[in-house]
Amino acid sequence: MAKAEKSWEERLAGQPDEMTVDFVESLSMDKRLYKYDIVGSIAHAQMLAEQKLITRDEFKQIKEGLIEISQEIAEGKFKFDKTLEDIHMAIEAALIAKIGEAGKKLHTGRSRNDQVATDIRLWMRDEIEILQAKITLLQKAFVKLAGKHTEDVMPGYTHLQRAQPIVITSYLLSFVEQFERDFIRLKNCSTLLNISPLGCGAVAGSTLPLARKGTAKQLGFSDINYNSIDAVGDRDFCAEFIFDCALIATHLSRLAEDWIIYSSSEFGFVRIDDSYCTSSSMMPQKRNPDVLELIRAKAGTVYGSLMAMLTILKGQPSGYNRDLQEDKIHIFAASDTVSQSLDMARAIIAHAKFDTRKISAGLEEGFLDATALAEYLVGKGVAFREAHGIVGSMVAYCEEASRKLAELDLDEFKKYSALIEPDVYENLGAAKVVGKYVTEGAAGPKQAKEQIAYWTSELDARCSMPDARRRGK
Ligand code: ARG
Repeated sequence: MAKAEKSWEERLAGQPDEMTVDFVESLSMDKRLYKYDIVGSIAHAQMLAEQKLITRDEFKQIKEGLIEISQEIAEGKFKFDKTLEDIHMAIEAALIAKIGEAGKKLHTGRSRNDQVATDIRLWMRDEIEILQAKITLLQKAFVKLAGKHTEDVMPGYTHLQRAQPIVITSYLLSFVEQFERDFIRLKNCSTLLNISPLGCGAVAGSTLPLARKGTAKQLGFSDINYNSIDAVGDRDFCAEFIFDCALIATHLSRLAEDWIIYSSSEFGFVRIDDSYCTSSSMMPQKRNPDVLELIRAKAGTVYGSLMAMLTILKGQPSGYNRDLQEDKIHIFAASDTVSQSLDMARAIIAHAKFDTRKISAGLEEGFLDATALAEYLVGKGVAFREAHGIVGSMVAYCEEASRKLAELDLDEFKKYSALIEPDVYENLGAAKVVGKYVTEGAAGPKQAKEQIAYWTSELDARCSMPDARRRGK
């Protein structure tokens, strides 16, 4: 009998159907995990040697063999054979081919079930750091642009209708806040996932004296999973990671929608650099915000991954099931999509220009100062509900007469409220109103400057932090 290539072929009759090979393989997807698989294997082998389950010399051969394989893969010299199913089998087979007998001992006390769970956690921990770095760069681009516009006023919208005046800085920093929450969510995700399933085996652990805490420490995990059944079947962290990506995509999508609107001829608030626009094959005048439109759409792709991941998990019986292999498609897709969108968004923000002249030209349209006028009346002792009604009547009057509130003379004001004094004019007009905002977090120049100072130092400190500290932060 010919020696079986994979040890379980001793158990099954004949070779698998070719269609089955294609259907069950995950190598095309999980070869991306090769570095993590190799560091996990080295830690496992070192522990086997420390526990006297293999010799020091066998460990040395295994370690050197794995490092060589790692180099071959990195250099594109490794031949991936999909009949070996996945990266775990591909590397193990290559190791056995390279070093012989010692290689056959690597899988002692281990199953691909705890192995893949370990690999994914290690990959995700690093991937989260990369996404966090990209978020930080995007935040910095926002802060830099925002710093130029602490005194420039634009309309603030609710229901996409003109609401109250705001400074451009505050508008831009609203995104820095959103992405900060994403940064923190990823940090939390990383903290939760950072425990080691290695040594949980197929489902029940092992009769061999594996030192699980040792391998966990070696791999930088903060602890181990304490239930082997849960450890091999748990992909909660994958769903959570994709959810975090989905919210990043949501924030990017809302940003994209704003800027698609703001860059239209109707608004003309912001100019997207030509490098991030495309033209039309037919209409020569067109400058289309396709990059932003794609960022907007890609949120849908990430939501798809989230739904898929949750659906894969639901209804599975306890322990490991092959269903879990499908996790990788979705964690990779979600991460890659968001990663690319974060890069594009950063580039767009870094090269965008606000057209403050155009914004100012239309700023007195839409009665942005109406709320401030009502609050002025409150200051004169009028109940807010009453002030709201008074200003509503004034706005109706102005609208009818095509005038602005600031254009009414004192006698006209007095018809609405005898309490109105000449100081009313200090509260009218968008530019004056923003200067009157006194609440913390308000969209005025004073608060904007404070926030710019805060974010500048916060993000600079984050960038200069060594990796280890950043992860713990
Ligand atoms: N390729 C598999 C996965 O991604 C590895 C684990 C397979 N385990 C097994 N017993 N068939 O989940």
